[in-house]
Amino acid sequence: MPRDGNRGHQETESGSVKIAPSILAADFARLGEQVTEAERAGADRIHVDVMDGHFVPNISMGAPIVQSLRRVTQLPLETHLMISAPDLFFDEFVEAGSDSFLVHWEGNSNLHRTVERIKKLGKGAGVVINPATPATALEEILSDVDQILVMTVDPGFGHQHFIETTLPKIRRVREMIERIKPACGLEVDGGIDAATARLAVEAGARILVAGTAIFGAREGVAAGMDSLRVSLHMVEQ
Ligand code: DX5
Ligand code: ZN
Repeated sequence: MPRDGNRGHQETESGSVKIAPSILAADFARLGEQVTEAERAGADRIHVDVMDGHFVPNISMGAPIVQSLRRVTQLPLETHLMISAPDLFFDEFVEAGSDSFLVHWEGNSNLHRTVERIKKLGKGAGVVINPATPATALEEILSDVDQILVMTVDPGFGHQHFIETTLPKIRRVREMIERIKPACGLEVDGGIDAATARLAVEAGARILVAGTAIFGAREGVAAGMDSLRVSLHMVEQ
């Protein structure tokens, strides 16, 4: 079917959207199985949320989980560090099999050094900003990173509501990426479901973290992935 240029353009953009299931919402008693299901359903990477009960008011998982997952999946393991001293833990996560790290801008007064450490280890480096942190905080670090993650909830818990006021910020970060480093990825995390996935992609996100929408889907992991993809298809209409 012939398409006009505009529709074709939008299709290309939404077609390149990647999905990163967050195992925080998985059934930990069946973690390997659930990750395998996500891989078969076309997940692009696995998002591992690490929390220390200090940087965020919750405790989740550490390097042993990465080590176990490394044996069951070929997918890149993206490690989101919601911990107070991320630099102290890179080595053990690298040894366990992490492929990339997402570190927060908040509370890190030596963020450039942290990013350089990740790059020296040969791993992907991403910087995360919380909902209350302005896009301008990224201006100086953006050229040094592979990815930016805009939190669309306050970090610490799965199953929260998407904060809609983050949408203009996603747009601002997209503009900054196009201006400074077009190859840099733009990911969103928190409250992503069929409705909010579409809003985030329209605002410029190209990687979607989703926990509840995938591992909490009533009809199963593959159905959860499908419903996200179907909603993105609607961006092309
Ligand atoms: C929140 C975590 C998220 C979380 C997303 O602090 O960083 O990755 O698992 O979960 P949902 O998709 O349920 O909001
Ligand atoms: Zn996360």
